[in-house]
Amino acid sequence: RIYARIAGTGSYLPEKALTNEDLAKTVETSDEWIRERTGITQRHIAADGQTTSDLAHEAALRALEAAGIAADELDMIIVGTTTPDLIFPSTACLVQARLGAAGSAALDVNAACSGFLYALSVADKFIRCGDAKKVLVIGAETLTRIIDWTDRTTCVLFGDGAGAAVLVADSDTGILSTHLHADGSKKELLWTPAGVSAGFGDGVGSSGTIKMKGNDVFKYAVKALDSVVDEALEANGLSKADLDWLVPHQANLRIIEATARRLDMSMDQVVVTVDMHGNTSAASVPLALDAAVRSGRIQRGQLLLLEAFGGGFTWGSALLRY
Ligand code: ACO
Repeated sequence: RIYARIAGTGSYLPEKALTNEDLAKTVETSDEWIRERTGITQRHIAADGQTTSDLAHEAALRALEAAGIAADELDMIIVGTTTPDLIFPSTACLVQARLGAAGSAALDVNAACSGFLYALSVADKFIRCGDAKKVLVIGAETLTRIIDWTDRTTCVLFGDGAGAAVLVADSDTGILSTHLHADGSKKELLWTPAGVSAGFGDGVGSSGTIKMKGNDVFKYAVKALDSVVDEALEANGLSKADLDWLVPHQANLRIIEATARRLDMSMDQVVVTVDMHGNTSAASVPLALDAAVRSGRIQRGQLLLLEAFGGGFTWGSALLRY
Protein backbone atom coordinates (compact mmCIF):
# COMPACT_ATOMS: atom_id res chain seq x y z
CA ARG A 1 0.00 0.00 0.00
CA ILE A 2 1.09 3.60 -0.65
CA TYR A 3 0.59 6.10 2.16
CA ALA A 4 0.63 9.91 2.11
CA ARG A 5 3.07 10.91 4.84
CA ILE A 6 3.57 14.41 6.22
CA ALA A 7 7.20 15.22 5.39
CA GLY A 8 7.17 18.77 6.75
CA THR A 9 4.91 21.48 8.13
CA GLY A 10 5.01 25.27 8.20
CA SER A 11 2.85 28.17 9.27
CA TYR A 12 2.62 31.93 9.24
CA LEU A 13 0.76 34.52 11.29
CA PRO A 14 0.47 38.20 10.39
CA GLU A 15 2.48 40.48 12.67
CA LYS A 16 -0.39 42.47 14.16
CA ALA A 17 -2.15 40.90 17.14
CA LEU A 18 -5.48 42.24 18.39
CA THR A 19 -6.17 41.52 22.06
CA ASN A 20 -9.53 41.16 23.78
CA GLU A 21 -8.86 44.47 25.52
CA ASP A 22 -8.35 46.13 22.13
CA LEU A 23 -11.74 44.80 20.99
CA ALA A 24 -13.46 45.89 24.19
CA LYS A 25 -12.64 49.47 23.20
CA THR A 26 -14.74 49.21 20.04
CA VAL A 27 -17.63 46.82 20.86
CA GLU A 28 -19.51 46.01 24.05
CA THR A 29 -17.55 43.01 25.24
CA SER A 30 -14.89 42.13 27.80
CA ASP A 31 -11.74 40.08 28.06
CA GLU A 32 -13.48 38.00 30.72
CA TRP A 33 -16.52 37.16 28.53
CA ILE A 34 -14.37 36.21 25.52
CA ARG A 35 -11.95 34.08 27.56
CA GLU A 36 -14.67 32.27 29.52
CA ARG A 37 -16.89 31.51 26.50
CA THR A 38 -14.20 30.81 23.91
CA GLY A 39 -10.70 30.55 25.45
CA ILE A 40 -9.46 33.26 23.07
CA THR A 41 -7.14 36.01 24.35
CA GLN A 42 -5.86 37.42 21.05
CA ARG A 43 -5.98 36.93 17.28
CA HIS A 44 -3.74 38.03 14.39
CA ILE A 45 -4.92 40.45 11.72
CA ALA A 46 -3.50 40.68 8.20
CA ALA A 47 -1.99 44.07 7.34
CA ASP A 48 -3.65 46.32 4.76
CA GLY A 49 -2.93 44.83 1.36
CA GLN A 50 -1.72 41.51 2.82
CA THR A 51 -3.74 38.75 1.15
CA THR A 52 -4.52 35.10 1.75
CA SER A 53 -1.94 34.05 -0.86
CA ASP A 54 0.72 36.16 0.92
CA LEU A 55 0.09 34.22 4.16
CA ALA A 56 -0.16 30.91 2.28
CA HIS A 57 3.13 31.56 0.48
CA GLU A 58 5.02 32.14 3.75
CA ALA A 59 3.57 28.98 5.31
CA ALA A 60 4.39 27.01 2.15
CA LEU A 61 8.04 28.13 2.13
CA ARG A 62 8.45 26.95 5.72
CA ALA A 63 6.75 23.60 5.06
CA LEU A 64 8.89 22.97 1.97
CA GLU A 65 12.04 23.81 3.92
CA ALA A 66 11.03 21.47 6.76
CA ALA A 67 10.31 18.70 4.24
CA GLY A 68 13.56 19.31 2.34
CA ILE A 69 11.64 19.49 -0.91
CA ALA A 70 12.03 22.08 -3.68
CA ALA A 71 8.89 23.75 -5.04
CA ASP A 72 9.53 22.47 -8.58
CA GLU A 73 9.30 18.87 -7.32
CA LEU A 74 5.61 19.33 -6.39
CA ASP A 75 2.96 17.49 -8.39
CA MET A 76 0.07 19.38 -6.88
CA ILE A 77 -0.86 22.35 -4.67
CA ILE A 78 -4.19 22.40 -2.85
CA VAL A 79 -5.35 25.38 -0.81
CA GLY A 80 -8.27 25.19 1.61
CA THR A 81 -9.70 28.69 1.89
CA THR A 82 -12.98 30.58 2.15
CA THR A 83 -11.28 33.94 1.64
CA PRO A 84 -9.40 33.65 -1.66
CA ASP A 85 -7.50 36.69 -2.96
CA LEU A 86 -9.57 36.78 -6.14
CA ILE A 87 -12.63 35.13 -7.70
CA PHE A 88 -10.10 33.59 -10.03
CA PRO A 89 -7.35 32.49 -10.53
CA SER A 90 -7.47 30.26 -7.48
CA THR A 91 -5.27 31.05 -4.50
CA ALA A 92 -3.41 27.82 -5.25
CA CYS A 93 -2.46 29.17 -8.70
CA LEU A 94 -1.26 32.43 -7.14
CA VAL A 95 0.85 30.52 -4.61
CA GLN A 96 2.18 28.23 -7.32
CA ALA A 97 3.43 31.22 -9.34
CA ARG A 98 5.14 32.72 -6.29
CA LEU A 99 6.82 29.40 -5.50
CA GLY A 100 7.96 28.86 -9.07
CA ALA A 101 6.23 25.48 -9.31
CA ALA A 102 4.70 25.97 -12.77
CA GLY A 103 3.31 22.77 -14.26
CA SER A 104 1.97 21.21 -11.07
CA ALA A 105 -1.79 20.97 -10.65
CA ALA A 106 -3.25 23.72 -8.44
CA LEU A 107 -6.73 24.06 -6.96
CA ASP A 108 -8.67 25.60 -4.09
CA VAL A 109 -11.11 23.77 -1.85
CA ASN A 110 -13.87 25.70 -0.10
CA ALA A 111 -15.14 23.86 2.96
CA ALA A 112 -14.94 26.77 5.44
CA CYS A 113 -13.27 25.67 8.70
CA SER A 114 -12.96 22.09 7.43
CA GLY A 115 -11.02 23.31 4.39
CA PHE A 116 -7.66 21.88 5.44
CA LEU A 117 -9.15 18.46 6.25
CA TYR A 118 -10.92 18.43 2.88
CA ALA A 119 -7.72 19.50 1.07
CA LEU A 120 -5.68 16.91 2.98
CA SER A 121 -8.15 14.22 2.02
CA VAL A 122 -7.95 15.12 -1.69
CA ALA A 123 -4.14 15.05 -1.52
CA ASP A 124 -4.22 11.70 0.28
CA LYS A 125 -6.39 10.18 -2.46
CA PHE A 126 -4.14 11.44 -5.28
CA ILE A 127 -1.05 10.02 -3.56
CA ARG A 128 -2.66 6.71 -2.67
CA CYS A 129 -3.83 6.07 -6.20
CA GLY A 130 -0.35 6.85 -7.52
CA ASP A 131 -1.23 9.99 -9.52
CA ALA A 132 0.88 12.28 -7.33
CA LYS A 133 3.99 11.79 -5.21
CA LYS A 134 4.53 15.20 -3.63
CA VAL A 135 1.63 17.46 -2.71
CA LEU A 136 1.59 20.78 -0.89
CA VAL A 137 -1.56 21.24 1.20
CA ILE A 138 -2.31 24.66 2.65
CA GLY A 139 -5.05 26.11 4.84
CA ALA A 140 -5.02 29.91 4.63
CA GLU A 141 -7.49 32.65 5.51
CA THR A 142 -7.95 36.37 5.88
CA LEU A 143 -11.27 35.92 7.63
CA THR A 144 -11.07 39.30 9.32
CA ARG A 145 -11.84 40.82 5.89
CA ILE A 146 -15.40 39.41 6.08
CA ILE A 147 -16.14 40.31 9.68
CA ASP A 148 -18.77 42.81 10.77
CA TRP A 149 -16.68 44.67 13.37
CA THR A 150 -19.87 46.02 15.00
CA ASP A 151 -21.25 42.49 15.67
CA ARG A 152 -19.83 41.38 19.02
CA THR A 153 -21.21 37.88 18.60
CA THR A 154 -18.79 37.18 15.71
CA CYS A 155 -16.04 39.81 15.60
CA VAL A 156 -14.33 38.49 18.74
CA LEU A 157 -13.94 34.98 17.34
CA PHE A 158 -11.91 35.09 14.15
CA GLY A 159 -8.31 35.69 13.10
CA ASP A 160 -6.00 35.44 10.07
CA GLY A 161 -3.18 32.99 9.34
CA ALA A 162 -1.92 30.09 7.26
CA GLY A 163 -0.58 26.60 7.82
CA ALA A 164 0.85 24.07 5.37
CA ALA A 165 1.97 20.47 5.11
CA VAL A 166 4.00 18.72 2.41
CA LEU A 167 2.74 15.20 1.76
CA VAL A 168 4.95 12.59 0.12
CA ALA A 169 4.28 9.04 -1.05
CA ASP A 170 5.65 6.54 1.48
CA SER A 171 5.52 2.75 1.56
CA ASP A 172 5.63 2.47 5.38
CA THR A 173 3.22 4.85 7.04
CA GLY A 174 1.31 8.13 6.89
CA ILE A 175 -2.38 9.03 6.70
CA LEU A 176 -4.41 5.96 7.70
CA SER A 177 -7.82 7.32 6.71
CA THR A 178 -9.79 10.52 6.21
CA HIS A 179 -13.53 10.98 6.75
CA LEU A 180 -15.51 13.87 5.28
CA HIS A 181 -19.13 14.93 5.78
CA ALA A 182 -21.44 17.84 5.02
CA ASP A 183 -24.99 18.98 5.68
CA GLY A 184 -25.96 21.81 3.35
CA SER A 185 -29.45 22.13 4.83
CA LYS A 186 -28.16 24.13 7.81
CA LYS A 187 -26.47 26.89 5.83
CA GLU A 188 -28.25 29.81 7.56
CA LEU A 189 -26.70 28.92 10.90
CA LEU A 190 -23.23 29.90 9.69
CA TRP A 191 -22.67 31.71 6.41
CA THR A 192 -21.67 34.76 4.44
CA PRO A 193 -24.72 35.33 2.25
CA ALA A 194 -23.10 37.18 -0.64
CA GLY A 195 -21.24 36.09 -3.73
CA VAL A 196 -20.78 36.17 -7.47
CA SER A 197 -24.02 34.62 -8.61
CA ALA A 198 -26.25 35.47 -5.62
CA GLY A 199 -24.96 39.04 -5.69
CA PHE A 200 -23.05 41.30 -3.34
CA GLY A 201 -24.37 44.07 -1.14
CA ASP A 202 -27.93 44.91 -0.13
CA GLY A 203 -29.51 42.66 -2.72
CA VAL A 204 -28.94 39.70 -0.44
CA GLY A 205 -29.27 41.64 2.79
CA SER A 206 -25.60 41.43 3.55
CA SER A 207 -22.44 43.33 2.88
CA GLY A 208 -20.58 40.04 2.67
CA THR A 209 -19.87 39.48 6.33
CA ILE A 210 -20.05 36.33 8.47
CA LYS A 211 -23.44 35.60 10.11
CA MET A 212 -23.58 32.92 12.77
CA LYS A 213 -26.10 31.54 15.23
CA GLY A 214 -23.28 30.54 17.58
CA ASN A 215 -25.32 28.54 20.04
CA ASP A 216 -26.89 26.28 17.39
CA VAL A 217 -23.53 25.84 15.67
CA PHE A 218 -21.95 24.89 18.99
CA LYS A 219 -24.42 22.05 19.63
CA TYR A 220 -24.22 20.74 16.08
CA ALA A 221 -20.40 20.90 16.11
CA VAL A 222 -20.04 18.89 19.32
CA LYS A 223 -22.36 16.14 18.02
CA ALA A 224 -20.75 15.96 14.57
CA LEU A 225 -17.25 15.85 16.03
CA ASP A 226 -18.22 13.09 18.45
CA SER A 227 -19.37 10.90 15.59
CA VAL A 228 -16.46 11.66 13.27
CA VAL A 229 -13.78 10.83 15.83
CA ASP A 230 -15.53 7.53 16.64
CA GLU A 231 -15.77 6.81 12.91
CA ALA A 232 -12.02 7.37 12.40
CA LEU A 233 -11.03 5.00 15.21
CA GLU A 234 -13.52 2.30 14.19
CA ALA A 235 -12.43 2.43 10.54
CA ASN A 236 -8.89 1.54 11.61
CA GLY A 237 -9.70 -0.92 14.37
CA LEU A 238 -8.05 1.39 16.90
CA SER A 239 -9.17 2.48 20.35
CA LYS A 240 -9.10 5.84 22.12
CA ALA A 241 -6.07 4.73 24.16
CA ASP A 242 -4.00 4.34 20.97
CA LEU A 243 -4.12 8.07 20.25
CA ASP A 244 -1.11 10.21 21.12
CA TRP A 245 -2.47 13.60 20.03
CA LEU A 246 -5.71 15.34 19.17
CA VAL A 247 -5.17 18.25 16.77
CA PRO A 248 -8.60 19.85 16.66
CA HIS A 249 -10.06 22.79 14.79
CA GLN A 250 -9.55 25.83 17.00
CA ALA A 251 -12.97 27.50 17.21
CA ASN A 252 -13.76 27.33 20.88
CA LEU A 253 -11.92 25.80 23.84
CA ARG A 254 -15.20 24.38 25.19
CA ILE A 255 -15.81 22.44 21.95
CA ILE A 256 -12.21 21.15 22.05
CA GLU A 257 -12.59 20.05 25.68
CA ALA A 258 -15.85 18.25 24.86
CA THR A 259 -14.12 16.24 22.10
CA ALA A 260 -11.17 15.44 24.40
CA ARG A 261 -13.59 14.16 27.07
CA ARG A 262 -15.30 12.00 24.47
CA LEU A 263 -11.90 10.47 23.65
CA ASP A 264 -10.89 10.12 27.32
CA MET A 265 -7.85 12.24 26.49
CA SER A 266 -6.12 14.52 28.94
CA MET A 267 -5.78 18.12 27.74
CA ASP A 268 -2.00 17.47 27.82
CA GLN A 269 -2.54 15.41 24.66
CA VAL A 270 -4.56 18.10 22.91
CA VAL A 271 -2.96 20.86 20.84
CA VAL A 272 -4.53 24.20 21.75
CA THR A 273 -3.75 27.41 19.89
CA VAL A 274 -7.19 29.04 19.95
CA ASP A 275 -6.03 31.21 22.87
CA MET A 276 -3.39 32.94 20.72
CA HIS A 277 -4.85 32.60 17.19
CA GLY A 278 -8.65 32.73 17.57
CA ASN A 279 -10.57 30.84 14.90
CA THR A 280 -8.53 30.97 11.68
CA SER A 281 -10.95 28.67 9.83
CA ALA A 282 -9.12 26.48 7.29
CA ALA A 283 -5.76 27.59 8.71
CA SER A 284 -6.46 26.48 12.25
CA VAL A 285 -5.61 22.77 12.08
CA PRO A 286 -2.32 23.16 10.15
CA LEU A 287 -1.33 26.12 12.37
CA ALA A 288 -1.90 23.96 15.46
CA LEU A 289 -0.10 21.00 13.89
CA ASP A 290 2.94 23.08 12.98
CA ALA A 291 3.07 24.67 16.45
CA ALA A 292 3.11 21.24 18.11
CA VAL A 293 5.67 19.81 15.67
CA ARG A 294 8.06 22.76 15.98
CA SER A 295 7.83 22.81 19.77
CA GLY A 296 8.83 19.13 19.78
CA ARG A 297 5.58 17.90 21.34
CA ILE A 298 4.49 15.86 18.32
CA GLN A 299 7.12 13.26 17.49
CA ARG A 300 7.65 10.96 14.51
CA GLY A 301 5.76 7.68 14.85
CA GLN A 302 2.96 9.12 17.00
CA LEU A 303 -0.72 8.62 16.19
CA LEU A 304 -2.58 11.88 15.50
CA LEU A 305 -6.26 12.59 15.08
CA LEU A 306 -7.04 15.80 13.20
CA GLU A 307 -10.64 17.05 13.11
CA ALA A 308 -12.63 20.11 12.06
CA PHE A 309 -16.15 21.47 11.80
CA GLY A 310 -17.31 24.54 9.91
CA GLY A 311 -19.68 26.40 7.65
CA GLY A 312 -21.67 24.36 5.17
CA PHE A 313 -21.96 22.58 7.50
CA THR A 314 -18.83 20.59 6.76
CA TRP A 315 -16.85 18.37 9.08
CA GLY A 316 -14.17 15.74 8.88
CA SER A 317 -11.20 13.99 10.39
CA ALA A 318 -7.87 12.47 9.46
CA LEU A 319 -6.11 9.75 11.42
CA LEU A 320 -2.41 9.59 10.71
CA ARG A 321 0.90 8.22 11.87
CA TYR A 322 3.19 11.27 11.93
N1 ACO B 1 -19.26 39.88 24.54
C1 ACO B 1 -20.19 39.94 25.51
N2 ACO B 1 -21.38 39.34 25.40
C2 ACO B 1 -21.63 38.66 24.27
C3 ACO B 1 -20.70 38.56 23.22
C4 ACO B 1 -19.47 39.21 23.38
N3 ACO B 1 -18.49 39.18 22.45
N4 ACO B 1 -21.22 37.81 22.24
C5 ACO B 1 -22.44 37.43 22.64
N5 ACO B 1 -22.70 37.94 23.87
C6 ACO B 1 -23.91 37.79 24.69
C7 ACO B 1 -25.10 37.40 23.85
O1 ACO B 1 -25.71 38.54 23.30
C8 ACO B 1 -25.97 36.71 24.88
O2 ACO B 1 -26.63 37.70 25.64
P1 ACO B 1 -28.18 37.50 26.07
O3 ACO B 1 -28.18 36.25 26.91
O4 ACO B 1 -28.48 38.75 26.77
O5 ACO B 1 -28.91 37.31 24.76
C9 ACO B 1 -24.97 36.01 25.79
O6 ACO B 1 -23.71 36.68 25.56
C10 ACO B 1 -24.80 34.55 25.51
O7 ACO B 1 -24.64 34.33 24.10
P2 ACO B 1 -24.53 32.89 23.47
O8 ACO B 1 -24.46 33.04 21.97
O9 ACO B 1 -25.56 32.01 24.05
O10 ACO B 1 -23.09 32.46 24.03
P3 ACO B 1 -22.37 31.07 23.90
O11 ACO B 1 -21.99 30.61 25.22
O12 ACO B 1 -23.10 30.15 22.97
O13 ACO B 1 -21.00 31.48 23.15
C11 ACO B 1 -20.01 31.36 20.95
C12 ACO B 1 -21.04 32.05 21.87
C13 ACO B 1 -18.64 31.62 21.53
C14 ACO B 1 -20.11 31.98 19.57
C15 ACO B 1 -20.26 29.84 20.90
O14 ACO B 1 -21.63 29.61 20.67
C16 ACO B 1 -19.47 29.13 19.83
O15 ACO B 1 -18.27 29.00 19.91
N6 ACO B 1 -20.15 28.57 18.81
C17 ACO B 1 -19.51 27.72 17.82
C18 ACO B 1 -18.69 28.48 16.83
C19 ACO B 1 -18.09 27.51 15.82
O16 ACO B 1 -17.62 26.44 16.16
N7 ACO B 1 -18.11 27.86 14.55
C20 ACO B 1 -17.68 26.85 13.55
C21 ACO B 1 -16.53 27.25 12.82
S1 ACO B 1 -16.62 28.86 12.14
C22 ACO B 1 -16.53 28.70 10.39
O17 ACO B 1 -16.75 27.66 9.83
C23 ACO B 1 -16.25 29.97 9.60
